[in-house]
Amino acid sequence: MSTPKRYTVTSALPYANGALHLGHLAGAYLPADIFVRYLRLKGKDVVWVCGSDEHGAAITIRAKKEGIAPQAIIDKYHALNKQSFEDLGISFDIYHRTSAELHHQTAQDFFKHLYEKGDEFIEETNDQYYDEEFNQFLADRYIVGTCPKCSHPEAYGDQCENCGSDLSPTELINPKSTLSKKTPVLRSTTHWYFKLDKHTEWMKEWIENGQLNGEQHHDPKAWKNHVLGQCLSWLNDLRPRAITRDLDWGIKVPVEGAEGKVLYVWFDAPIGYISATKQWAADNGKDWKDYWQSDDAELIHFIGKDNIVFHCIVFPAMLKAHGDYILPTNVPANQFLNFEGRKFSKSKGWGIEMHQYLEEFKDFPNKEDALRYTLIRNMPETKDADFKWDEFTEFHDNELVANLGNFINRVIVLTNKYYDGVVPEAIDNETAATALTSVKTVIEELCSELDKYNFRNAILKLMELSSIGNTYLQDVSPWKIWKTEPDSQVVKNCIHNCIQIVGFLSVVCEPFLPFSSEKIRSLLNLPKVENGDLTKVLDLFQTQQSLIPAGHQIGEPALLFAKINDRKDTSRKELIEQQKANLQAILDAEVPAHEPVKDTASFEDFTKLDIRTGTIIEAEKIKKTKKLLKLTIDIGFENRTIVSGLAEHYKPEDLVGQEVVLLVNLAPRKLKGVESQGMVLTAENTKGELCLISPKEVFGNGFVVK
Ligand code: 2FM
Ligand code: ZN
Repeated sequence: MSTPKRYTVTSALPYANGALHLGHLAGAYLPADIFVRYLRLKGKDVVWVCGSDEHGAAITIRAKKEGIAPQAIIDKYHALNKQSFEDLGISFDIYHRTSAELHHQTAQDFFKHLYEKGDEFIEETNDQYYDEEFNQFLADRYIVGTCPKCSHPEAYGDQCENCGSDLSPTELINPKSTLSKKTPVLRSTTHWYFKLDKHTEWMKEWIENGQLNGEQHHDPKAWKNHVLGQCLSWLNDLRPRAITRDLDWGIKVPVEGAEGKVLYVWFDAPIGYISATKQWAADNGKDWKDYWQSDDAELIHFIGKDNIVFHCIVFPAMLKAHGDYILPTNVPANQFLNFEGRKFSKSKGWGIEMHQYLEEFKDFPNKEDALRYTLIRNMPETKDADFKWDEFTEFHDNELVANLGNFINRVIVLTNKYYDGVVPEAIDNETAATALTSVKTVIEELCSELDKYNFRNAILKLMELSSIGNTYLQDVSPWKIWKTEPDSQVVKNCIHNCIQIVGFLSVVCEPFLPFSSEKIRSLLNLPKVENGDLTKVLDLFQTQQSLIPAGHQIGEPALLFAKINDRKDTSRKELIEQQKANLQAILDAEVPAHEPVKDTASFEDFTKLDIRTGTIIEAEKIKKTKKLLKLTIDIGFENRTIVSGLAEHYKPEDLVGQEVVLLVNLAPRKLKGVESQGMVLTAENTKGELCLISPKEVFGNGFVVK
């Protein structure tokens, strides 16, 4: 485990069958972008590859749905996703495609190499589902049925998306073809299987202890718990996996007699990382083997949690079986991002796609970093996270505007006001020692968080830096001194030091907020940050030199971010409100989930229930509870005290006078010390709100409902 000379970083190749949403961005692309930008800032030799995954049933099924050729689908979504990534500052070194000839060649060579080794594959003929109407074998997503593990009625032939189980089509209960919707028949066909089970022993050693070929390959403690957890559960039951399919879309199996068969998409896609590197190397005068076949290189895969088994087990086994390749030293997979409490769902319109955000927020100042910030601040690193528009607003206004933006703006404004924008000289600069020492410590802590892929913690450190700046500026309060003493050295020292902090911020924020970094640099009248700049900053701390020397002319002030909750300009707040209203409209239009009808009740059962009309005459919240209200209800012949869980849905004062329907012979029970003598009838709407069931017109109290 020596310090690597080179880094090969990959992000999951997204299927080119649709537009990517914010959940994808936060999962495998934004974290990798931060990490790679950080490595570049430290002057490291790094290549970051990604591209479109253009094979598999995901593409052909989408093409069928849209009534166009698969090629048209991949061209459309490859271009769309590539552009959105670029617009959001996702700085891949190459965004390649698996439809490229170079990739087909690379994947076929890889297959042939394993095939020719003689002991990696099994060729097996067995029965598979076949659609007689469409004359086609039904691979993976072409077949749906009930999951044998969780009874989900729409499990796919290769996986149940409900419980995550890995399935084979013949395990499905009541299978149906997605093409003809009919029950398929079984027909015999021949396929190649990769002997994954053969790799169990070394793989256990590698995953559990980080040992490979008797040497320490990586530190297994540096892997995330949820990644290791998934791997360990797989390791006990590795089986041969089919790596070919009967399909006409994909990479032809390069073996005689394999006509009509293609490589399984999960066999060719990860090889896409290699072919992308080949293309990048050819374009940039590099040798791709230095990044894949040299022990000096470190390989890191960024993915979402649904791809763990392929990147931690199957692909490493393929690489090891091949023999010439290095294995990943870490796979810092993220968990999922939800959207306002639910899963992203294209069909329901729930969520926002990258291109859609860019379009709808086109007039929002610094929209790219505003989004990046929220996604990093709340990244699903170790558990699922939730994107919320209210949080987007809070993070933006309270942190980006009030902390980072405010500090930088104050420093630029004061430097222009006091010194016409020329950085003053610092003499006997004692304050620098304290302020800049803590800055140095925080930058080092930030780097250490990035080294561990803790992006949420790292961005908090970034904010801590500007907090240090704000506190320092406030402590010295140069504006108080300058009024009477414009030539004060204390003020000069303070501004000089603050300009240094702004300079550090411009470098350190670049991995997270590249658009802001560029803007800060232009405020400072400096060129964009370059590879190696972070190392320079860290070196300056050693030599105690200034990053931005006295006499340097900075630029004019300009705002980095514009507050959403702005009293004068309400446009940004309205934009956010519109987003929330769109979601509310989806909820409003939803048909309530159909609850199964309960077991039959006899007429006698029903007549046991004494349901009557009544009027609420008093209502108050029960202290120390969130949900409970104590109601006093007039039921004609007496008053009843009833405890009801309505507090989050009604204000007590609005309930007084309300007519209700209630069950009056429910056995009394004590809730939070109050005896409840019955139950008011309510129903829950699609928003999860409890609504009282009331007579339509003034009715009177104590009438029996029958
Ligand atoms: O889950 C997906 O979107 C796959 N297309 C990821 C492939 S990652 C790699 F293997 F290319
Ligand atoms: Zn299931």
